[in-house]
Amino acid sequence: MTGLLNGKVALVTGAGSGIGRAIVTAMARAGASVVINDIGVSLSGAGGSAGPADEVRTEIEAFGGKAVISRDTVSEWQAAQRMVQTALDAFGRLDIVVNNAGILRDAFFHKMEPQDWLDVINVHLNGSFFVSRAAAEVFRAQNGGAFVHMTSTSGLIGNLGQANYSAAKMGIIGLSKTIALDMQRYGVRSNCIAPFAWGRMTGNIPTSTPDQLARVENLKQITPEKNAPLAVYLASDAGSEVNGQIFAVRKNEIMLMGQSRPLRAIHSSEEWTPESVRDRAIPALRPSFYPLDRSQDVFAWDPF
Ligand SMILES: NC(=O)c1ccc[n+]([C@@H]2O[C@H](COP(=O)([O-])OP(=O)(O)OC[C@H]3O[C@@H](n4cnc5c(N)ncnc54)[C@H](O)[C@@H]3O)[C@@H](O)[C@H]2O)c1
Repeated sequence: MTGLLNGKVALVTGAGSGIGRAIVTAMARAGASVVINDIGVSLSGAGGSAGPADEVRTEIEAFGGKAVISRDTVSEWQAAQRMVQTALDAFGRLDIVVNNAGILRDAFFHKMEPQDWLDVINVHLNGSFFVSRAAAEVFRAQNGGAFVHMTSTSGLIGNLGQANYSAAKMGIIGLSKTIALDMQRYGVRSNCIAPFAWGRMTGNIPTSTPDQLARVENLKQITPEKNAPLAVYLASDAGSEVNGQIFAVRKNEIMLMGQSRPLRAIHSSEEWTPESVRDRAIPALRPSFYPLDRSQDVFAWDPF
């Protein structure tokens, strides 16, 4: 295999299905030796199966790629260290980490169980920390490495019933930015992608009318594979100037997402009081208030 990742070693978490599978396969096609990490759980994180990771390895080996499997969970520190060791044992180095593993436990906030909060934070946010932190030792020692983390517009913009997931995905934004700042001195980069893909995370849209059916047929064109080219680019030396950024990918659209900066400010020569905040500050700031948008309100145009 030859391409932008020739000679590199990539670890992709949650690479047994969906977007992770598409990315790990594209990385192998681009010349990387890959570690396929997956524990083969359901959307909610239940069960566990070797099947998905095995299938991906078979697919990669069929086109001549090099792949090994890691069946460690991202949500434990020791397991994350074993994951990195798997790359070192198999290929002698590690250049790329894609934090992609994920589960969902949606519920309206007023009904969300503490365990659903803890489990989602544990896989997405703590998992991204554990795996990144384990790899950071290697990246620092070799003076180079690239992180690509999957975030979501559910966090960046908002969504109903996903307080746990949105909080985790916004946490990943902060994690990535700080890694970018802290490890820039070692030639290490860290970027985020908010992907879009038809799959089990998005596949519960109603199909009871012909219009809904037609829309779902269109949505199926937003395949997980659409997210892979940007991930490969960001992980490669071609992307060496790109650090601390947030992208979104929706079918054939690639978007650079904003990072929070002050929109308006009001200064007072006197101390603020609650009353003067009410009477002067809020009226001055209100024109820039955001509506209570959900992701689908902002992405109001279809990409097909
Ligand atoms: N599909 C979308 O439209 C979409 C949108 C925004 C963000 N994302 C994010 O992209 C990533 C991939 O999403 P997807 O749609 O491909 O999901 P998916 O459910 O198809 O795949 C997730 C994979 O992660 C694995 N996994 C779960 N917990 C794990 C753990 N503890 N350790 C190792 N592996 C584990 C699962 O076995 C599964 O193979 C997720 O982080 C998700 O939040 C997806």
